[in-house]
Amino acid sequence: MSAKEWRTHNLSGNKRVVVTKELPGNRWLETLARAGCRVEICTSPDILSTGEIKAAIGTRCDGAIGQLTETWGDELFAALESAGGKAFSNYAVGYNNVDVAASTKRKILVGNTPGVLTEATAELAVALTLSASRRIAESDVFMRAGKYKGWLPTLFLGELLSRKTVGVIGAGRIGTAYARMMVEGFKMDLIYYDIYQNKALEAFMAAYGEFLKSQGEQPVACTHAASVEEVLQKADVVSLHPVLDKTTHHLVNAERLALMQENAILINASRGPVIDEVALVAHCQKHPNFRAGLDVYEDEPVMKPGLKDLPNVVIVPHIASATIWTRQGMATLAASNVAAILSGYPAWPDADIRPFLGDDAPQAAPSIVNAKELGLPMRKP
Ligand code: DGY
Repeated sequence: MSAKEWRTHNLSGNKRVVVTKELPGNRWLETLARAGCRVEICTSPDILSTGEIKAAIGTRCDGAIGQLTETWGDELFAALESAGGKAFSNYAVGYNNVDVAASTKRKILVGNTPGVLTEATAELAVALTLSASRRIAESDVFMRAGKYKGWLPTLFLGELLSRKTVGVIGAGRIGTAYARMMVEGFKMDLIYYDIYQNKALEAFMAAYGEFLKSQGEQPVACTHAASVEEVLQKADVVSLHPVLDKTTHHLVNAERLALMQENAILINASRGPVIDEVALVAHCQKHPNFRAGLDVYEDEPVMKPGLKDLPNVVIVPHIASATIWTRQGMATLAASNVAAILSGYPAWPDADIRPFLGDDAPQAAPSIVNAKELGLPMRKP
């Protein structure tokens, strides 16, 4: 065991589960305790090293819940396998920090926490968009510095969103929720890039356009772009929502930034390495009317040199899912994944995980990413 602090819940449980961070709420603890788990939780806010997590796994560990700040690669899965572990859940929907091939090779099922952070993440992306377009963070600093000497026609001029074009790259659940919020909030046209056509989003845009027409207003337009470049060129605001893998690493680089309008707004609440952050710093230095809103960073928690000095960049510390309801829901899902596997339950067959948040949670694992590869049966609907 490392020198960092740990606490134990349900001492008498006969299955040992290691959790590398405190999680909000109690429900997740009750879920694991009901499944007969003794839960050992690291109470330190410090990010644990692979060596510290290995020490915590020790010689007997049935399951673990880990964080996106940790590298769950072959070394940890080998340790978990030799400790008798069968289940791991990431406390996140994204699992680019997890080597799923390594866990699958070691017959360890891997869970994640989709469905509870869609709206929260999209809302934060909207908040960053507004903060960037209306220069809210900059104005706040100005006020606190006592610099406000009275109303001026030219003070903190920003960009209007209404009836402009919003671009979304990656139209999955979060990208779709963000697109709808921007369209419904500001009647923006939408241009999106995704390898898949998002028929539901397109149908929503058409129906919303019809509704606007019925009110005597201009409808909104929707374009499924043929390329990332097309979105960057045409949109006034671009929000990034792809998963991070080798095809999306530095998706937005110097060449692509150069395609964007001089006064465009770029939002990233997905994963830091999707943007070449050095290129973004250079671009924002050169184009003071270009604005960015960032929740995530390439070398988190470190920022590339110069980023924090830019007034045209709004920066927040990876808080997109940070609402009480969301983070408690993520805890419930992560615990339910591990508890279900250790209880021998099947996988949940549906993308809608809401039943797990109610009083009568199904006897299933809500979201297991390698269920098929490891032959975990699906619960009959
Ligand atoms: C996730 O779940 O992937 C988020 O980044 C956490 O906020």
